Amino acid sequence: MQTLDRTASLIDALKARRLRLAALVDFPVLLWSGQSSPRNFRANKFPFRASSHFLYFAGLPLEDAVMRLESGKLTLFMDEASPASALWHGETPKREEIAAAIGAIEAYPLSELKPEKFDQGEVWGVTPSKWATGAATIGVQNGQTRADQSITFQRSILLDVKQIEGIDLELAGAIVSLRMIHDELALAELRKAIAVSITAHKAGMAATRSAGIEAEIRAAMERVIIANGMTCAYSSIVTVHGEVLHNDQYNHLIKPGDLLLADVGAEAASGWASDITRTWAVSGKFSPTQRSLYDVVLAAHDACIAAIRPGVEYRELHLLAARMIAAGLVDLGILRGQVDDLVAQDAHALFFPHGVGHLLGLDVHDMEDLGDLAGYETGRVRSNRFGLNYLRLDRPLQAGMVVTIEPGFYQVPAILQDPERRSRYRAVVNWDRLAQFADVRGIRIEDDVLVTETGAEVLTAALPTKAEDVEQLVQN
Ligand code: GLY
Ligand code: MN
Ligand code: MN
Repeated sequence: MQTLDRTASLIDALKARRLRLAALVDFPVLLWSGQSSPRNFRANKFPFRASSHFLYFAGLPLEDAVMRLESGKLTLFMDEASPASALWHGETPKREEIAAAIGAIEAYPLSELKPEKFDQGEVWGVTPSKWATGAATIGVQNGQTRADQSITFQRSILLDVKQIEGIDLELAGAIVSLRMIHDELALAELRKAIAVSITAHKAGMAATRSAGIEAEIRAAMERVIIANGMTCAYSSIVTVHGEVLHNDQYNHLIKPGDLLLADVGAEAASGWASDITRTWAVSGKFSPTQRSLYDVVLAAHDACIAAIRPGVEYRELHLLAARMIAAGLVDLGILRGQVDDLVAQDAHALFFPHGVGHLLGLDVHDMEDLGDLAGYETGRVRSNRFGLNYLRLDRPLQAGMVVTIEPGFYQVPAILQDPERRSRYRAVVNWDRLAQFADVRGIRIEDDVLVTETGAEVLTAALPTKAEDVEQLVQN
C-alpha cells in the first residue's frame, strides 16, 4: 500500500468529492475496492488494482476494503492484517490509522457487513446487512468481491449496466457526472502520469535504432514507468504490426523500413491514467509513402484538437477525422470520389475503423465498466454503421473533461481482403495505388486533451507529433 502521509489539501479534496456525491443522491452508498485474483495458487496473485469508483472517493488503493458513504460521511470496513502477514508483507498500518488517513469517521471489520439472520419460530431467514439496507452499490470486476457484495445485499449484484436499475443505476449516473468533469486533484495526477509517459515514449524512440525485436523497445519504455513508481495503465502496444489494433505480441523483428507503433501509457500510483500513441520510422526517417500517410493522420489529429471546445459534439470530431482521412486519401489517389459521399458510405472506415477516442480518467477508457453510461449522452445508443459503431464517446464536450484524440490509418487484412467489402467499395478504392503504400501497416497518433472553458489544452503536448520532430527523437 502507498504511504499514509496525506496532505490536508488532499484529504479536503477527497472529502469535497464525497460531499458532491451526497448532493446528488439521497441514499447511502457502499463501494468495494475489490481484491486481487490468484494466478495459479492463492499466494501467487495478479497485481491488485482497486476499483476506480472506490479510489475516486478514498484516494488510497486499499485491498479488500469497503466504504460506506452517507451524507458525505465515510465509514470504512476492512480487516486488520493477520499476525502471520507481518512475516511475508512487513508491518501494515492499523485499520484506525487507515481510516484516519482517508477521513473516515468510523471503522469496522468486514464481518460487520454480514447479512442479518432472523429466527422467529416458523419464520427464519437472512436479510441484508444493516449497513446495506436502503443502500446502493456498483458491481466490481473481481468475481469473488461481487459475490461478497451479493451476500451483503442479499441480491445479485451484476456487472452489466443494462441489467442494473433503481438506486444502483441512479448511483452509477451520479458517479459518472462527477468523474467525467475532473477536479484539480485529478488533473494534477493525470499530469503526473502523462509526464512519465512522455519520458517513456522518448526512451522508446531513442532505443529503436539499436533494438532487434519489439520487446526491447517495450522494455525501454516500461522501464521508465516502473522506475517512476508507476504501472502501465493498459497492456502496452509496441509493434511493427500497428494494423493489429490491440497487438499484445512483442517478438517481431524490427527492420529498417518498418514503422513502429507504440501505444503506451503510465498509471500514477493514485490510479490516474494516461494514454499516448506515437508512430515512428525504425530507421529514423519516414519513407515518402509513410510520410504522406503520416501527414494525413496528423492533419486529422490537429483538426480535431483545434475544434475542441465546450458544446462541441464529440461525434462531430469523429466525423471531422473521418472527413480529413478521406480527403487525404483522395489526394493520394487511394480513394476516389467526394469526401462527404465517401464518409457517408463509411469508405474511410476501411482504413480508420475505430472511434477517434474516449474519456480518460482513472480508467484508460474511463468508466467503461458502466458500458456506455459515461460515454453516451442519455437517450443515445451506438450506431450500427461500420464507421461509427466503435465510437466510444457521443456527448457534447464540457470543460473539465479529458478526452483522447487518436485518429489512425491501418491496412487490416481482415477488412481489406474481405470479399464483401472489396466488392462494395470496388469503385471507390484504387487498389493498385493502395499497393504502393505497402510499407504502411498502421499509423496512430494519440494525445490526451483537457477541454477548457475556451478551448483545449493538449496535456501531452510536450511529446512532438510533427514528422520531422519525431524523426529527430529517433535519430538522437
Ligand atoms: N490504449 C488504448 C486506446 O488507445 O484506446
Ligand atoms: Mn486511447
Ligand atoms: Mn492508446
